[in-house]
Amino acid sequence: VGAGARADLPALLGRHAPSARYAVVSDATVAPLYGEPLVAALAATGCAARLFTFPAGERHKSRATWEALSDAMLADRLGRDATVVAVGGGVTGDLAGFVAATFMRGIPHVQVPTSTVAMLDAAVGGKTGVDTPAGKNLVGAFHQPRLVVADTETLRTLPAAPFTEGLAEAVKHGVIADAAYLAELEAGASAILARDPAVLERVVARSVAIKAAVVADDPTETGRRAVLNFGHTVAHAIEAAAGFAVPHGVAVAVGMVTEARLGERLGCTARGTAARIGAAVERLGLPRTVPVGLATEQLIACMGGDKKVRAGTLRFALPAAIGQMVPGDAGGWSLPADLTAVRAALHEAGAAGE
Ligand SMILES: NC(=O)c1ccc[n+]([C@@H]2O[C@H](COP(=O)([O-])OP(=O)(O)OC[C@H]3O[C@@H](n4cnc5c(N)ncnc54)[C@H](O)[C@@H]3O)[C@@H](O)[C@H]2O)c1
Ligand SMILES: [Zn+2]
Repeated sequence: VGAGARADLPALLGRHAPSARYAVVSDATVAPLYGEPLVAALAATGCAARLFTFPAGERHKSRATWEALSDAMLADRLGRDATVVAVGGGVTGDLAGFVAATFMRGIPHVQVPTSTVAMLDAAVGGKTGVDTPAGKNLVGAFHQPRLVVADTETLRTLPAAPFTEGLAEAVKHGVIADAAYLAELEAGASAILARDPAVLERVVARSVAIKAAVVADDPTETGRRAVLNFGHTVAHAIEAAAGFAVPHGVAVAVGMVTEARLGERLGCTARGTAARIGAAVERLGLPRTVPVGLATEQLIACMGGDKKVRAGTLRFALPAAIGQMVPGDAGGWSLPADLTAVRAALHEAGAAGE
């Protein structure tokens, strides 16, 4: 992680992911900004590299794009000695990682995240995949990258909306693991929003350290990795109820405040935790209340279809206080919640209806 770290990519690739040929994958927006310059830098050091692009946007994180990229790599006669380098946001990382996971039964890959979501969250942890008409991320594989290089300077060209939305995951990392980090995010909010590269370097490094520690403990999500779902049960319901018109980061901000309120109601979360999270997300330009027009019952219904529902009860990963999660029952890092408490928390967070 570093401001300007992309200049070191040829050397870092040579050291951590040496390869006969590199397939650099970027979407059409990021390709001219960072994909083409990387291919040129690799060529200048005598490495064989080629750029593979696809149209930008979540709707292209699909099996059709996976097929097109895989076919283009096969037509280029790439073999098992090739390495995929994903340069871009979370869509590029998930898609290119999945291409690498399946190409010739799996070749190495490297993540070069260029969005806040990708740097703070998606590039680390090894989850790769694509969306299907039945839902997001339903087809994929766990495939760990050999190397992740986050250059915080690249965030300067990211549009304002995706920049801010990604910060919700940084707040999540502070809440689940590090009270001092949350305090730093609050105190540094204006420098973060001004995209001060040195401040962003500390933020990305801290978030990555927290996520990597949780993932290393539970790489395939059977236990502790559930803490990374904090805020996400409600967030996924908001996204589904709004037909994906509400961005993920906005939904996560509201989801964290709502789930902390739920924890306070259930008596497992220290009083004042929800208010503190609400203040933090607002300082970073994110909302704390449910978007207008979404009703409590609609959100409850959407939670019924959430993959975190086990045996008919809603389950939530909840904080005990800022910086510490409740271990949960049966070592599962999540707790059951009755619908009355969930309704009340949603209502308090601004959802319409009783
Ligand atoms: N694998 C995981 O663990 C994980 C975790 C969180 C999110 N995700 C996935 O990440 C995706 C969202 O990621 P995202 O928000 O980065 O979306 P994205 O990749 O679509 O990037 C958002 C937009 O910003 C552009 N962009 C990216 N970096 C840029 C830069 N530096 N300068 C200018 N433009 C730039 C992209 O072209 C795109 O148009 C979702 O598909 C989500 O499922 C995965
Ligand atoms: Zn998320």
